[in-house]
Amino acid sequence: MSVCEFKPGLEGIPAAQSSISFVDGQQGLLEYRGIRVEDLAQKSTFLETSYLLIWGELPTREQLAAFEHEVRYHRRIKYRIRDMMKCFPESGHPMDALQASAAALGLFYSRRDLDNPAYIRDAVVRLLAKIPTMVAAFDLMRKGNDPVRPRDDLDYSANFLYMLNEREPDPLAARIFDVCLMLHAEHTMNASTFSARVTASTLTDPYAVVASAVGTLGGPLHGGANEEVIGMLEEIGSVENVRPYIEECLQRKAKIMGFGHRVYKVKDPRATILQNLAEQLFEKFGHDKYYDIAVEIERVAEEKLSQKGIFPNVDFYSGLVYRKLGIPTDLFTPIFAIARVAGWLAHWKEQLAENRIFRPTQVYSGLHEADYIPIEQR
Ligand code: SDX
Repeated sequence: MSVCEFKPGLEGIPAAQSSISFVDGQQGLLEYRGIRVEDLAQKSTFLETSYLLIWGELPTREQLAAFEHEVRYHRRIKYRIRDMMKCFPESGHPMDALQASAAALGLFYSRRDLDNPAYIRDAVVRLLAKIPTMVAAFDLMRKGNDPVRPRDDLDYSANFLYMLNEREPDPLAARIFDVCLMLHAEHTMNASTFSARVTASTLTDPYAVVASAVGTLGGPLHGGANEEVIGMLEEIGSVENVRPYIEECLQRKAKIMGFGHRVYKVKDPRATILQNLAEQLFEKFGHDKYYDIAVEIERVAEEKLSQKGIFPNVDFYSGLVYRKLGIPTDLFTPIFAIARVAGWLAHWKEQLAENRIFRPTQVYSGLHEADYIPIEQR
């Protein structure tokens, strides 16, 4: 068998055949099961989009109602998981708390029955339903408070914001948050989805698959960038400081957080929608100076980086939306994870349907037939 040339980061190397989503990086196009993400953002909801991604088609009214009902009534987490989370250090990062608690879910549902569609559906419902509860619970507990029980009378996004802020959200805020979840739900073979597929291919349980993917998403080059962007905006502090800051960054070859993408060589279509959502929030709830700084960063970065195909990605404006919704900065990436669970589960199912364990090869660059040198001679 011929060995392909080694490509760092597997750049441009197909790792799977998939029909879940499609990206055209030159056109700035993103489709979920063939439907433009702009259409879904305008007309769908996160749970309906999750159903589309996972089962491959838009649900009928009855299918959607049944799915929403199941997710609604599986939001509670076992008291043992809450007790476990109470032992987490409050200084710990919420992504580490999420990874630990997602893996712990597997302790309660460890029977693996991957050939059984009912088992698959139960795991999908439990993970979509319980991940938001665990994210909100850790945030309250790290402040020394008891977590808030989920409310069955609130829809998916309103319930999450309720559990986080202990009050019902404004309907516009809940809708905008739901659109953010749709925009972050799926994105072809990104690092965390690849991680999910590799883990899935060993036929382990779906809770371990999601825990693997959460760990991968947390890095600043991937899902962790949204948190870094806010830090950058705060560090810049004013529109006047943008140009010197960007020039200094580029001078030392540092990456501008929220910019660039392995696939998009134009502005990420999700960034455009998120920018519009941010503007809607500012119009209703008051302006945010960091938005002006962000727009100036985009303008200066366009001047300096657009010729390299570097434009804002999904992480550049998402943090401004979450900040305006009163969400703590270190919860931005866990919220990215809440949304991406839908995509990871879709890829988990797709991998199982025609599975072969991932086992790539390598280009060996080490020694051969080396001698063992006794320790006294080293
Ligand atoms: C996500 O894959 C996905 O789909 C991910 C995602 C999803 O939905 O799952 O879209 C979500 O992870 C978005 C990306 C979030 N990360 C960031 O915003 C961090 C900053 N961005 C970069 O680290 C970078 O752009 C990556 C990691 C996103 C992509 O990097 P690549 O494709 O490996 O590109 P590279 O690092 O090889 O850079 C190529 C050139 C280099 O310049 P040269 O050495 O050739 O002169 O572009 C430059 C880089 O220095 N470059 C940047 C830059 N990103 C790339 N220069 C300044 N600022 C940047 N942000």
